[in-house]
Amino acid sequence: MRIIGTGSALPKKVVTNDMIAEFLNTSDEWISTRTGIKSRHVITDEKLQDLGAEAVMKALEMSGLSVADIDLFIVSNVVSEYGTPGLSCIVAQKVGLSCPMFDINCACPGFVYALDMAEAYYKAGKVKNVLIACIEEPTRMVNWEDRSTCVLFGDGAGAVVLTEGDNVKGTKLHSEPDFDKIWMTRSLTESRYLQTKEEEVALQMKGREVFRFAVNACTNGVKDLLDEVGIKKEDVTWFMVHQANKRILDAIIDYMGVPAERCPVNIYDHGNSSSASCPILLDECNRKGMFKKGDIIVFSAFGAGLLSGAAVLEW
Ligand code: UT7
Repeated sequence: MRIIGTGSALPKKVVTNDMIAEFLNTSDEWISTRTGIKSRHVITDEKLQDLGAEAVMKALEMSGLSVADIDLFIVSNVVSEYGTPGLSCIVAQKVGLSCPMFDINCACPGFVYALDMAEAYYKAGKVKNVLIACIEEPTRMVNWEDRSTCVLFGDGAGAVVLTEGDNVKGTKLHSEPDFDKIWMTRSLTESRYLQTKEEEVALQMKGREVFRFAVNACTNGVKDLLDEVGIKKEDVTWFMVHQANKRILDAIIDYMGVPAERCPVNIYDHGNSSSASCPILLDECNRKGMFKKGDIIVFSAFGAGLLSGAAVLEW
């Protein structure tokens, strides 16, 4: 497949580190040196589905396709206010899409998993045009009294439109199932046969262990993928890595021996927006005119599961 449109949308409220330090025992110095984050966009009176619809419409507009041309709509989302239907259906109703659609919950690497699926459907001859939207509100998953997690995240949506082409050169997905490293729970209704209500637990994360997983999974995943498809890392124009922590990005840049300027960063004013981070970064770089035909772009992302994935495509 080939990417022909990108779009993104962010909530209007910007929360700086200093604003968080007004109600939590933290500081701009701690947050920016440990993570690279200075501010993030946080959902207030917006609806997540409206952000999703905005990103989708921008990507469609750039692609020149209309909703009627889309054969498959894949939404990556960790949580939304609806348990059912999927966020894909809610966004689809807003924008007028009526093709087959589904949600995936692959946490932060959701965009790479969605790309892998889109390519598989295309290679199976089932679709011509696919729309992917990654729509996330992690700031509603954390406990805002827990300084070790709430400072890390930001909300947003990113979308891409793909059409026929052989530009996706390869994808590689990886898992090391270990739910205890990043998790949250929500309670379900009581039933006639089960009266114990589960406890709702906001996002929990073993930061240091996730950090180690991220660096290993990202570097190994990208190396293995590039070896598999026969592309040298020197020939990669852009490394689009999940924006979770600037120190993770630096470790990856260092370990892989690639120039920092080939690894775009927007974590400073976005924070970690889970699976939306890669397509938001892609859209921002695309709209700045950074990509030219023939550029080789690698995506790499990691997160809860633990899951990780990499993809390489030609622009
Ligand atoms: O997309 C999902 C994937 N998630 C990630 O990629 C996250 C990966 N991990 C990380 O990015 C880092 O581990 C963190 C940024 C989460 C934490 O950095 P760290 O260097 O691993 O710090 P730490 O958790 O070991 O905490 C060090 C200290 C602790 O204090 P003590 O025990 O040494 O006294 C924490 O209580 O920093 C303290 N601390 C804070 N201090 C001020 C933790 N959070 C904060 C805070 N402000 N916000």
